[in-house]
Amino acid sequence: MNQVIELRLARFSDVRTIARMSRDLVEQGLGWSWRAGRIAAMINHPEAVVLVARSHIETVGFGIMEYHEHHAHLNLLAVKPNQRRSGTGRVLLEWLEKTARYAGIAKIYLEVRARNRGARAFYERLGWENVTYVSGYYQGRESAMRMVRELIPSDQQRSI
Ligand SMILES: CC(C)(COP(=O)(O)OP(=O)(O)OC[C@H]1O[C@@H](n2cnc3c(N)ncnc32)[C@H](O)[C@@H]1OP(=O)(O)O)[C@@H](O)C(=O)NCCC(=O)NCCS
Repeated sequence: MNQVIELRLARFSDVRTIARMSRDLVEQGLGWSWRAGRIAAMINHPEAVVLVARSHIETVGFGIMEYHEHHAHLNLLAVKPNQRRSGTGRVLLEWLEKTARYAGIAKIYLEVRARNRGARAFYERLGWENVTYVSGYYQGRESAMRMVRELIPSDQQRSI
C-alpha cells in the first residue's frame, strides 16, 4: 500500500534534518555547505521557500527554491533512498513549480552534477531541459549540467 506523504513548509525544528539530508544525499564528496545556519536563513528568507515531504513518521524529502526578479533557482531537492521512485520527488517539484508559476516566474534554473544520470532523467521526465554544461562548477572538482524549466511559453515571457 502506498503511504501518505504530506507536504508542508519547513519549520526551524526541521533545520538539522534537512542539513543532514543535504550533506548525505546531495553534497556527498563535495564538502558540506548547506549546514543548519544556511537552511535556517532560507526558511527566514522572504524570497525563498523550504518545503518538506513527510510520511507519518519522518521527513522523507525536501526542496529549497529561491525567487529572483524574473526567474527562480532550485537550490536543493532530495528524497531518502528508501522512498525513491514512489512519486515523492515529483510532488515536491510540482508544488515548487506551481507556486513559482503563481508568482509570475517564467523560468526555474538548477544545476545538477553532470554524472548524476538518475536526477537528470528525473528532471527531463518532468519537462526540464538541458541548457549548458558547466565545467568544474563544483569547486573545480566536478562539472554540472544547468537545466531550465520554462513555466511560461517563451513567446509570452516579458522581455528582460
Ligand atoms: C532525483 C530525486 C529527487 C528523485 O526523487 P524520486 O522521489 O525518486 O522521484 P519520483 O519517484 O517522483 O520520479 C518521477 C519520475 O522521474 C523519473 N526518475 C526518477 N528517478 C530516476 C532515476 N534514478 N533514473 C531514471 N528515471 C528516474 C522516472 O520517470 C520517475 O517515474 P517512475 O518511477 O514512474 O518511472 C532522488 O533520486 C534523489 O533524491 N536523488 C539524490 C539527490 C539529488 O540528486 N538531487 C538532485 C540534485 S539537487
